[in-house]
Amino acid sequence: MVILGIESSCDETGVAVYCGERGLLSHCLHSQVELHAEYGGVVPEIASRDHVRRVVPLVRQALADAGVGSDDISAVAHTRGPGLVGALLVGAGFATSLALAWGVPSIPIHHLEGHLLAPMLEPDPPAFPFVALLVSGGHTMLVGVEGVGQYEILGQSLDDAAGEAFDKTAKLLGLGYPGGPALAKLAEEGTTGVFKFPRPMTDRPGLDFSFSGLKTFAMNTINANPAEARADIARAFEEAVVATMVIKCRRALEQTGYGRLIISGGVGANRRLRQQLTELGQKVGAETHYPAIKFCTDNGAMIAYAGYRRMADGLLGDASFSVRARWPITELTPPERLTAL
Ligand code: KG4
Ligand code: ZN
Repeated sequence: MVILGIESSCDETGVAVYCGERGLLSHCLHSQVELHAEYGGVVPEIASRDHVRRVVPLVRQALADAGVGSDDISAVAHTRGPGLVGALLVGAGFATSLALAWGVPSIPIHHLEGHLLAPMLEPDPPAFPFVALLVSGGHTMLVGVEGVGQYEILGQSLDDAAGEAFDKTAKLLGLGYPGGPALAKLAEEGTTGVFKFPRPMTDRPGLDFSFSGLKTFAMNTINANPAEARADIARAFEEAVVATMVIKCRRALEQTGYGRLIISGGVGANRRLRQQLTELGQKVGAETHYPAIKFCTDNGAMIAYAGYRRMADGLLGDASFSVRARWPITELTPPERLTAL
């Protein structure tokens, strides 16, 4: 079974080919970061137009790199949502048309399901069930994953997503877009303990997060200190976000009794977070699994893989052409109600 996967929910065009027997055969990515940098954030119309420019050459390249032709493709998967509608429509429109032309199923994928399953692209994939810390630019949640399509939200951010908090604080620190990696780099130059940031919502039970207060705390600290303090402030901010997540992950493992923890989404690329979650796993006797850094941020491989899992497990569901700007992951049809195409 060979699946072509197309991701276009935001500012990355990702295309990949995944083979059930041989694993990931190719993956191509075009990031629009430079196009949006001058605006300090993603401009939806610019994103859509760039997906239009990139999708055909990337599909050609992914097929060539994989050494497969259209006859070899068993299905075409694409991101249905959540994301920017115009951007999603480019990938969905192209993928659905290809599937129609090639006479194979079209498989719409939930973007967050892609992120949740991304650690399974690694040589030592986690078994179900596991706790997933899903931390991206748009989402921060702890999810109990029992199987493909079986997701329970254990906790989530009540305001800003973790990546958003990184990006906004980075902006306050005068760093470019996207701020997460830039802030993490600056934090490396800082000293621990010079500033102490709060660990939001850790003093009460529960698995929800809140990051907007941390951003305000960062703003006040930046305004009250000289420019030379920036690295120490970045360090304190990063440490507070990471410590908060570690506390919540520990609670989620205890609450579910699951022995595995995975991390995914763009903030999952953060080195300090990976390091400290590994230490947590060692302490509490839980396995930890992370996608390769390149598969933490948006990519086509996770969509091709999710498409493969759904097709292999007979979970194709509704293949009608539509995109979803907002799409709670809990709306994914429970497997027992899905029918194969
Ligand atoms: O998953 P992703 O590529 O896109 C969404 O679906 O949102 O995540 C992008 C987010 C951005 O907010 C970016 O600043 C953050 O991930 N990010 C990081 C790091 N690398 C990317 N945040 C902290 N540390 C990093 N090393
Ligand atoms: Zn994403």
